[in-house]
Amino acid sequence: MKIEFSINKKPVSIDVDPEMPLLWVVRDELQLKATKFGCGRAMCGACTLHVDGEVYRSCSLPVQYAAGKEVTTLEGLSTETQIHPIQQAWIEEEVPQCGYCQPGFMMAAAKLIQEIPNPSDEDIKSNISNICRCGTHPRIIKAIKRAAAIQQASKI
Ligand code: FES
Ligand code: FES
Repeated sequence: MKIEFSINKKPVSIDVDPEMPLLWVVRDELQLKATKFGCGRAMCGACTLHVDGEVYRSCSLPVQYAAGKEVTTLEGLSTETQIHPIQQAWIEEEVPQCGYCQPGFMMAAAKLIQEIPNPSDEDIKSNISNICRCGTHPRIIKAIKRAAAIQQASKI
């Protein structure tokens, strides 16, 4: 079945099983490899991306759900001229260790600072349930707070 949607602001049309997980389509059909496969059961958050601005775990989301919508992956978070505050803060705080979980965290964090511009530790812990096996959570919290500050400064 032909499914059309937009990914990182570019229109795509693909002929796949509508029940195929969006993650498979993003990685294997569209060759966008930032979004990762972890548990495959909507538990770890490695596959987190945005559909119409909302956070989804794409390993458990049939691609047909994306039809007619805008999908954003980590590759599309920044614009050509402006790095996203989350990516800037991640670099400045040197967050990643192995890096595998980080794209999912960054996509979840980008949505969080959009909804809660100045999140507390509690806001971060209660809104982001992604898993990092390398134990980078303390740096992630620092980076989200730094990103929130960058975002606020850019609005002044
Ligand atoms: S791979 Fe999707 S939540 Fe773990
Ligand atoms: S940085 Fe290795 S799993 Fe998170």
